[in-house]
Amino acid sequence: MHKEVGAFKNKNVLVVITGSIAAYKACEVIRFLVKEGSKVKVMMSESSQKFIGLATISGLINNEVYTDLFPPKSDSGIEHVSLAIEMDIIVVLPATANVLCKVASGVADDLVSTTLSICEQPTIYFPAMNFRMWFNKATIESVEKIRKKGQTIVEPDDGELATRHKGRGRLPSFNVIINEIRKILHVNLPLENKKVLVTAGPTRESIDPIRYISNRSSGKMGYSIASICKNYGAEVTLISGPVSLQPEPGIECFNVETNKNMLDCIENQISSNHYDYFYMAAAVSDYKPKNFSNKKIKRSKSEMSIDLVPCIDIIKTVSSKIEGKLIAFALESKNGGSEAKRKLKDKGADFIVLNHHNKIEKALESDTNHVFVIAKSGNIQEIKRDHKLSVAKKIVDITLDK
Ligand SMILES: Cc1cc2nc3c(=O)[nH]c(=O)nc-3n(C[C@H](O)[C@H](O)[C@H](O)COP(=O)(O)O)c2cc1C
Repeated sequence: MHKEVGAFKNKNVLVVITGSIAAYKACEVIRFLVKEGSKVKVMMSESSQKFIGLATISGLINNEVYTDLFPPKSDSGIEHVSLAIEMDIIVVLPATANVLCKVASGVADDLVSTTLSICEQPTIYFPAMNFRMWFNKATIESVEKIRKKGQTIVEPDDGELATRHKGRGRLPSFNVIINEIRKILHVNLPLENKKVLVTAGPTRESIDPIRYISNRSSGKMGYSIASICKNYGAEVTLISGPVSLQPEPGIECFNVETNKNMLDCIENQISSNHYDYFYMAAAVSDYKPKNFSNKKIKRSKSEMSIDLVPCIDIIKTVSSKIEGKLIAFALESKNGGSEAKRKLKDKGADFIVLNHHNKIEKALESDTNHVFVIAKSGNIQEIKRDHKLSVAKKIVDITLDK
């Protein structure tokens, strides 16, 4: 079991939901915290209840939700005071421009603003709003004031907003939210101060300026590994073949095309950096055309063939030059186990992650995967079919130094 499991156990967490269209995203975070064993209380502004129902939240925490400054049947009438001082952390998710401006100016005209204006507990805001609201002078000044008070405001993401505009204002991803909460609670991240290099996607080998040979790798497995490592606190470098994915913010990404480009890029990285872990998930070409035609090969009626020559075995080439742990990915359509064990030795890897791709099992172009992680010691662990992000988390958990 991973050491972060249980990190949220018994933590007193107050989640404050305010009236942004991103309010529904609080459900997933609340559910996670409850599952991890936190004692979660929730407060909702009046506006937020237009976006998600009290019944949903109260069902998730199996308790009542705080909504009124003057509740009809209050025990003490001072929930805003007790809630503000009893908590290990207060999470405002999502935080509206309105609540940021109110808290910064000390306005206390409802339960949410009254609680937030007096709380001295570690407080973290996750703003979500249209970019015009985020860049509004009043919001900028309020954010500055709240940060000066020592509270945390997590910068929203750039991207497509609910209004279909592009800009800054999106609520960060679930993983980023959980990570930021972890940081405030001083929960150690398993890959803190570690450097990880991940390769992902296919490579392309050109036949002529127009055509190439490649494979069906989508890059999703490698990108998921990179995301998990980033969320575990690592500094992540991703070397990616051509895919239609975007790395998570904060991941350094190099885009390459051919097997040779990939090898050069890896060698460049290892000559100037020390990496602790290498996750080689790219599906690099095994063969390339012997000859490259500078001009587009014309269509003709006669048969033609392309001579192929082997490409360099990147993992084998790199393994002798690195000190970090090497996790190589292998794809087989049959005899996977014996092939993986042979490759483990031949390539000098610490682990082989074995994927199967055949009529029954699909690893490429799929959102899910089913793998076996085979260690140098001979230990084999199966990760049953699941979304690639969940599979990636289990792979990283298994291959981490404990
Ligand atoms: C459809 C709709 C979506 C909204 N989305 C946001 C939002 O994402 N961020 C924000 O700051 N305000 C948003 N607002 C405005 C807030 O709901 C409004 O300022 C409200 O007074 C906030 O109250 P509260 O901060 O007490 O929850 C939205 C309003 C509407 C009608």
